[in-house]
Amino acid sequence: RTVYVNGEYLPEDQARVSVFDRGFLMADGVYEVVSVLGGKLIDFAGHMVRLRRSLSELAIAEPLTDDDYLAAHRELIARNDITDGLVYLQVTRGNPGDRDFAYPPEGTTPTVVMFTQSKPGLADAPAARTGWTVVSVPDLRWGRRDIKTVQLLYPSMAKMEAKARGADDAWMVEEGRVTEGTSNNAYIVRGNTIITRELSHDILHGITRAAVLRFAAEAQMQVEERAFTIDEAQQADEAFVTSASAFVMPVVRIDDAAVGSGTVGPVATRLREIYLEESL
Ligand code: PDD
Repeated sequence: RTVYVNGEYLPEDQARVSVFDRGFLMADGVYEVVSVLGGKLIDFAGHMVRLRRSLSELAIAEPLTDDDYLAAHRELIARNDITDGLVYLQVTRGNPGDRDFAYPPEGTTPTVVMFTQSKPGLADAPAARTGWTVVSVPDLRWGRRDIKTVQLLYPSMAKMEAKARGADDAWMVEEGRVTEGTSNNAYIVRGNTIITRELSHDILHGITRAAVLRFAAEAQMQVEERAFTIDEAQQADEAFVTSASAFVMPVVRIDDAAVGSGTVGPVATRLREIYLEESL
């Protein structure tokens, strides 16, 4: 694979980042994941808006313009011959030359890394026909989940717990209400109404979420932005999650209860179809 590091395209085994990079020592960095379908980037502009917001919340200097990012994404897609898959982009505060809790003085150059992952047939994932099962876990992450940082240890632990319990993913719960999945936003459906947690510092402001809520409203569905409990989700007609890599993924079981019929429902199916059609 060819990867991008600070303006250079290199074979992955020749790419280098300093051991003093704050991304490595302190998880002091942010990332984005953009899907590629049929060689085309999905929702690229939205991901760049969120990247800038994440950087600005952490006072990390803007290393590149949107045009630079776009050119690098396209170059990596071409060099790695990606039809379906994703581009991962990470920007860290960079290498101040030593370990220190304080941010380095202005002028430290951020580290920019990008690479591709090939996922042939991404849009026809078989899981979309059977749906995911999820288990609930407490949400033990920090209080600024709206910033897309590379601090992913707790979501990794939650994913491992889900796997150990035979499930596909975990829904994280805080003060009795679902925040989000380990790497996706969570929804339930009651009748013609789609319910998903309102935007705040408690969840990531999903780019796929924004698109799906817009398509739902256009398709005359009702959208309610509010938190819900695991109990309410288990009683719902349907449940699903959204993310750049899973698009719209139905959820058919939460802990020990089937959701609705326990099979993939019509609303999640329709929203997935609309999302993929509109994105392509
Ligand atoms: N994750 N919530 C969390 C905690 C996430 O990590 C993600 C994305 C989302 C969905 O956001 P979007 O629709 O913009 O992808 C919600 C990416 C895909 C990842 O970590 O791989």
